[in-house]
Amino acid sequence: RRPPCCSPRAAGVRGLWGRPPKGVSLLVPQPNINATVAQNILLSVDYSCRGVATIEWKHVSSRGTTKIAEWKSGNYVNISTGYKDRVTIFENGSIQLLNVGVRDAGYYFVTVTEEHGTNIYGTIVLNVYEIIYEDLHFVAVFFAFLTGVSAILICFMWLCNKSLHLFQKKTHKLTASNTEEIELETIEC
Ligand SMILES: *[C@@H]1O[C@H](CO)[C@@H](O)[C@H](O)[C@H]1NC(C)=O
Ligand SMILES: *[C@@H]1O[C@H](CO)[C@@H](O)[C@H](O)[C@H]1NC(C)=O
Ligand SMILES: *[C@@H]1O[C@H](CO)[C@@H](O)[C@H](O)[C@H]1NC(C)=O
Repeated sequence: RRPPCCSPRAAGVRGLWGRPPKGVSLLVPQPNINATVAQNILLSVDYSCRGVATIEWKHVSSRGTTKIAEWKSGNYVNISTGYKDRVTIFENGSIQLLNVGVRDAGYYFVTVTEEHGTNIYGTIVLNVYEIIYEDLHFVAVFFAFLTGVSAILICFMWLCNKSLHLFQKKTHKLTASNTEEIELETIEC
């Protein structure tokens, strides 16, 4: 079996919906999904074929290839142990993945095989982003705190400045009257 990316059939498949050329066709309406951590995502596809098809989903990432599920409508459903409680399968070949994490990012390959062995591939790329909202919240709180502190400091400095001015004025007056007295005394002498 050739890898899906090199298959000439896979190339023509994405986003197309026409009469099945070899009895099986597959529609992948959204080949690129951006999600955030803890979201539930639908890997949506829709297939058509004559007879009963077998659907298989695989996850490919830098960690390797994992089989997610394989089922044959009306026959059996086989979901891998790692995905048992967080994968839902649909009649049209789609799967829903609950509570995604960063390690769910990667490529999802779906293979639809019809009774005579003809198969067709589809690919969905999933990006999972971490939520940076909490970090932003922290920055905002920290910024508000800094602003508050600087406002208090500015008030304090203003007060210091004011009282310093008052003090200087008083000293000036005092010095002035002293000099006058001294002058008066000198004149008297
Ligand atoms: C996902 O994000 C990438 C860039 O981060 C963007 O190019 C692409 O259009 C996005 N896809 C969807 C379906 O929003
Ligand atoms: C496949 O079925 C699911 C559930 O009924 C639906 O949400 C989804 O849109 C369908 N996908 C396509 C491509 O029709
Ligand atoms: C289901 O999967 C298990 C392990 O991956 C495998 O041993 C078993 O043969 C599969 N069953 C069917 C019906 O494909």
